[in-house]
Amino acid sequence: MAEGTNLGVGVDVGGSGIKGAVVDLDTGEFVGERVKILTPKPATPDAVAAVVADIVRELDWDGPVGVALPSVIKHQVAQTAANIDKSWIGTNVHDLLSRHLGARPIAVLNDADAAGLAEVAFGEPEAQNGAVIFLTFGTGIGSAFFAEGRLFPNTELGHLLIDGRDAEHIASSAVKDAEELSYSQWAERVDGVLHEFDRLFNPTAFVVGGGISRKADKWVPKLTVDVPVIPAKLRNRAGIVGAAMAAHDHVTPNTSAPGRRVGGI
Ligand code: BGC
Repeated sequence: MAEGTNLGVGVDVGGSGIKGAVVDLDTGEFVGERVKILTPKPATPDAVAAVVADIVRELDWDGPVGVALPSVIKHQVAQTAANIDKSWIGTNVHDLLSRHLGARPIAVLNDADAAGLAEVAFGEPEAQNGAVIFLTFGTGIGSAFFAEGRLFPNTELGHLLIDGRDAEHIASSAVKDAEELSYSQWAERVDGVLHEFDRLFNPTAFVVGGGISRKADKWVPKLTVDVPVIPAKLRNRAGIVGAAMAAHDHVTPNTSAPGRRVGGI
């Protein structure tokens, strides 16, 4: 597919699947089908990059590509690897992807930051104002902080220690599955975590995303935290859309002050 001015490609690397699509950057909608390939095991940088290249090839796309990873990304280098192979740490993801995708603009950013950017741009209007904490509940808990719609990148609230445990080990949706918690039981866990985040960061709203936000009516009404909790609108489409936005906004490697919207990753 030829590069269009308002089209982009985003790829979201998750613990179980790697998903990509062509995105209409004016609407945040996918153009055509989403392509999903299972995450290779082990999910080493080269194995994942090869899958990203397969997806981009399948999308028939030769323009800029944005990739969202479950890692802290500073100057295009992965700094952490909580739910992905440890060999990512220290990897220059731009160089890695350039080897697999050829010379083209490539943007790399944290998966929750990507999803948050998309929710702010195309989701509930409340997310655009105030001090908003966006959270994704999946294999881990991802976070993205926004002040008046501008991202403060690479926050890692999933690893905030609560009673000596990572927040994501208490209340991710993977924990709900592993411990076979009911929505009520899990909502209580999420509530505890949100109270702690609220106590420390005092946001004006939380936006909650990830696949489980599709069932928001089963757990969001049970939360007691004294801040509006808004279910995300784009759900698990958000990571792909945000990655495509980052590529389009020229979040280029080794640049400390790229596209305004992504807050200088
Ligand atoms: C990682 C974050 C990521 C989140 C969601 C956490 O374990 O540390 O970087 O955003 O999972 O994938």
